Amino acid sequence: MRSLIDIAELSIEEIDELLQRADDIIANPKKYAHACDGKKLATLFFEPSTRTRLSFEAAMYELGGNVISMASAGSSSASKGESVADTAKTVSCYADVIAMRHPKEGAPYVASINARVPVINAGDGGHNHPTQTLADLLTIYREKGRLDNLTVGFCGDLKFGRTVHSLITALSRYSGIKFVLISPDELKLPSYIKKDIIQKNNLEYVQTTDFESVLPELDILYMTRVQRERFFNEEDYLRLKDSYILTPDKMKLAKEDCSVLHPLPRVNEISVAIDNDPRACYFKQVFNGKIMRMSLILKLLEVEI
Ligand code: NCD
Repeated sequence: MRSLIDIAELSIEEIDELLQRADDIIANPKKYAHACDGKKLATLFFEPSTRTRLSFEAAMYELGGNVISMASAGSSSASKGESVADTAKTVSCYADVIAMRHPKEGAPYVASINARVPVINAGDGGHNHPTQTLADLLTIYREKGRLDNLTVGFCGDLKFGRTVHSLITALSRYSGIKFVLISPDELKLPSYIKKDIIQKNNLEYVQTTDFESVLPELDILYMTRVQRERFFNEEDYLRLKDSYILTPDKMKLAKEDCSVLHPLPRVNEISVAIDNDPRACYFKQVFNGKIMRMSLILKLLEVEI
C-alpha cells in the first residue's frame, strides 16, 4: 500500500505513467466510469480549499466511486483535541483512500503512518502540495509536449508557496531545466530547497527581484499568490502582497509561446485582462488537476483497467 506525501516519492517513470493514463482518461472517459465502483474517498480538509477538495471529489465520482467528507475542521473531532493519528485510524475504517489538507507541515505524513489505507497529501502548511504538481506537470506536458529543456520562472511568494516547492522538486529531475526565481527578498525560496534540490542536482538557476528583466527568457511563468495566512503580521503582508502583478503590458515582454500557470486562487497577481490571452493556462490547470487526481487514485488503489 502506497501513500503520496511528497512528489519525490514518484519516479520519473511513474509520473510518465500517470501522464499517459491522464491522456487516456481525457480521450476515453467512459472507459473509467466504473473503475472505482464500490470504493470510497474521504476528504479531510483542515484548511480552506475550493479546487483541491472539489477536484478530488469530482475525480472519485467520475471513476464511479463515492465520497465522504467533513464539513469543516471546526465541525470535526480535531476541535475536541483528537490527534491526526487517531483521526487517520478512525477514517481508515470508513474509506479506501484519504485526501488530507492540514495547516501543519507533516500532518498528512503522520496520518499515512497511522492509516490502513493510502493517504494523499492535499497540501501541508507551507511545505508541499504534490497533487497540484501533478496538475502542473500535465499542463506543461500538454502545452509544450515535454518536461525537459525548459526555462521555468516562479514569481511571487516562493517562501510559503507549497506548490512552488513541490513543482521545483519534480522538475529538478528532468534534464535541461533552468529555474528563474523571482520574489521580494523576504519571500525567497527556502534555503533547504535551494541547497538540497537545486544546488545538489547542479541545476542552473537565477534569483532576482526584477521581474521584467527575466520575463523574455521564460518558457513557463508560474505566478503565485502571497500566502497571507502564513504571515506573522498583517503589515508585512500588506507591504508585499502586490509586489508583482502580471498585466497585458508585461505580457508583451514574454515569449509568444510562454505558458502562464497559477495554482489559483488568484488575488491581484494576474490581471483578469490576461485571461483571454492564449498563453494563459490557469483554468486548463484546474481541469488537468481533476484528471491527474483520477489517474493517481487509480494508481494508489491498484485498479486494473
Ligand atoms: C494552492 C494551495 O492551496 O497551496 N491552491 C491550490 O491548491 N490550488 C495555492 C494557494 O493557495 O495559493
